[in-house]
Amino acid sequence: MTTTTGTAAVTPSVGAAHTRVEGREKVTGAARYAGEIPFAGLAHGWLVVSTIARGRIRSVESAAVEAMPGVLTVLHHGNAPQVDGEYVGLLGKPDPTITLFQNDRVPFAGWPVALVVAETPEQAREAAEALEVRYDEEPHDVAFSAGRPGTYTPQDQGAETEKGDIEAGLAAAAVVVDAEYTTPEEHHAMMEPHAATARWDSGRLELVDSNQGSMWVADELAKMFSLDPASVRVRSEHVGGGFGSKGLRPHQVAAVMATTTLHRPVRVVLTRRQMFAITGYRSPTAQRVRLGADADGRLCAFDHQAQSLTSTVHEFIERSADYGRAMYDADAHHTVNRLVKLDVPTPTFVRAPGEAPGSFALESALDELAEKCGLDPIVLRARNEPEAGPVSGLPYSTRRLIDCFEEGARRFGWADRDPIPGLRREGRWLLGTGTASATFPSNAMPSTAAVTAEADGTFTVRITAADIGTGARTALTQIAADALEVEPGRIHMRIADSDFGQAMIAGGSMGTRSWAWAVTSAAKELREQLALGGGIPEEGITARSNTAEAIAALAQKERHSYGAQFAEVAVDTATGEVRVRRMLGIFAAGRIVNPLTARSQFIGGMTWGLSMALHEEAVRDQAFGSHVGPDLAGYHVAAHADVPPIEVGWVDDPDPDDPVGIKGIGEVGIVGAAAAIANAVWHATGVRHRHLPIRPDRVLLAGTAPGGDGDA
Ligand code: MOS
Repeated sequence: MTTTTGTAAVTPSVGAAHTRVEGREKVTGAARYAGEIPFAGLAHGWLVVSTIARGRIRSVESAAVEAMPGVLTVLHHGNAPQVDGEYVGLLGKPDPTITLFQNDRVPFAGWPVALVVAETPEQAREAAEALEVRYDEEPHDVAFSAGRPGTYTPQDQGAETEKGDIEAGLAAAAVVVDAEYTTPEEHHAMMEPHAATARWDSGRLELVDSNQGSMWVADELAKMFSLDPASVRVRSEHVGGGFGSKGLRPHQVAAVMATTTLHRPVRVVLTRRQMFAITGYRSPTAQRVRLGADADGRLCAFDHQAQSLTSTVHEFIERSADYGRAMYDADAHHTVNRLVKLDVPTPTFVRAPGEAPGSFALESALDELAEKCGLDPIVLRARNEPEAGPVSGLPYSTRRLIDCFEEGARRFGWADRDPIPGLRREGRWLLGTGTASATFPSNAMPSTAAVTAEADGTFTVRITAADIGTGARTALTQIAADALEVEPGRIHMRIADSDFGQAMIAGGSMGTRSWAWAVTSAAKELREQLALGGGIPEEGITARSNTAEAIAALAQKERHSYGAQFAEVAVDTATGEVRVRRMLGIFAAGRIVNPLTARSQFIGGMTWGLSMALHEEAVRDQAFGSHVGPDLAGYHVAAHADVPPIEVGWVDDPDPDDPVGIKGIGEVGIVGAAAAIANAVWHATGVRHRHLPIRPDRVLLAGTAPGGDGDA
């Protein structure tokens, strides 16, 4: 059979619904996840984490557990291999939580202090639970609040932006909103726990892992253990969710240390409880928003001050104040992300980092401003559409925010809405509707891909992409099919193997866009080679791409996805329960590659927004410094019974500078969703709830008298 492309008319695949290419494997259980792939001679590691929130390890009494059945070794700061804790990785300096067992300091509760390795997971767990670790305890401080002592502005580029005179702008404004909003500590809560198996094989370190970027993990491990990058291979075939949490974490490092010590494959799987302490989380936020507007609702002063926390060992900033920088303009414009260092685990990226909590505060404040100006919230937003990026001054690549609102308003039935709050009753339920904007940056990062024309007429694509549940593997299959002008069935899509070379991680809503660019470019190159004619040798013909130059040459523009969120709620005046009755999201988020998986992505994001608005809250015990109920019973994420029908749509919005027109859709779906629900709760009850989650006790305490205040 000859391998040709584009010989017969092939229906374009991009834009058409395509079920997941690995769907059958997943639903039949044939797809194996990192914690369940068999290895001969496998040993099992179990992490032991600190019970104190601050101090020093005085001793690890390992002798007693080393005598327990099946125990092979106990690794801790006294005997673990030394690593390079100062290497510069993708995110700068590593978090010392990850370069584990290097000293006796305990900076927070749940800090990994030892790894017990045994023949079976049960033996490892029993010994780990029996391991006595003695500490010299020091007083800890885990109390987060707005403006508390120790609050500072990080030396980080972009921590603060300022133009004009904010106080003068507010003083001159006809209408002012000045309010404080808080969001709690939130967790990724993906279905699949972190798991890794490490082994040395013919001089190469091999890791079978669950991550958002196999090249990322391989690169960090090589640096940390001072290895030749070519001698590290990381694979991550199927991933049951990541949401920002699945980069390099302590368990992979522990597995590498143990396999290096024992010369056997070692697997480390985290428990849900361990994940709460050592796999990152979204910092709680305290945000003050001050908006000044003229009587027509045009903003003249815009001030967003956000505060989050970080650990004492690593600086991570939850950039809530970034949200307004590309969204709303005013002559006086100020945004700042402040921090406080506490004796808590290091927070990290969580789906829509910054934008999720930032949009709750700002989109709630805009609703308050609309109310004060007597304007419809959509009219207020339309009046404040900027010509260019308010902080960057750059032109927008495309900005179809108001088109999203118009389409959303039509489909949601917004025109009939009476803006007066607290009027609609249905038995004990008060009903209301709310809306909010959404935006998320749209970027691309350099990636490499290889496309091979096989002798049997099929094509193999190799790229170190990660499908963390997004449908990326399927989207890339469609992209490759169109680029080669063949049916998707002729594409073998191979991903998530660091041996395939450098590529963007599944993160920042940039994965599919960055990978699609590289695949398209390699496919184009291959077609040029095939056009020269000649047969296909047994090993096939391979073309490679590297998009570094093309991406570096992209014109500087404000590149974002947009959306309009709508929600209808019912508030039970007797119990304080808020039920979301329906949600609608309309997005302008680039060319939609696969409507089926894209819809899932948006619905997933909006569901997360619902969960953030009403349920999610990790509670830290001030006395012990650790969590109360760190599991999926104590930390409620929206379940099926909490989630109403969610409708999703999009307006046509291809990115003009992307070869496929993609913008990225992984995160924009959550942005603004919690604010739309909070705004709907105000419309139902007349009470502003500025603190998430909007729990029944908060609703009851605040009452349902219009003009009431949920700050009580
Ligand atoms: Mo994400 S929070 O960019 O994985």
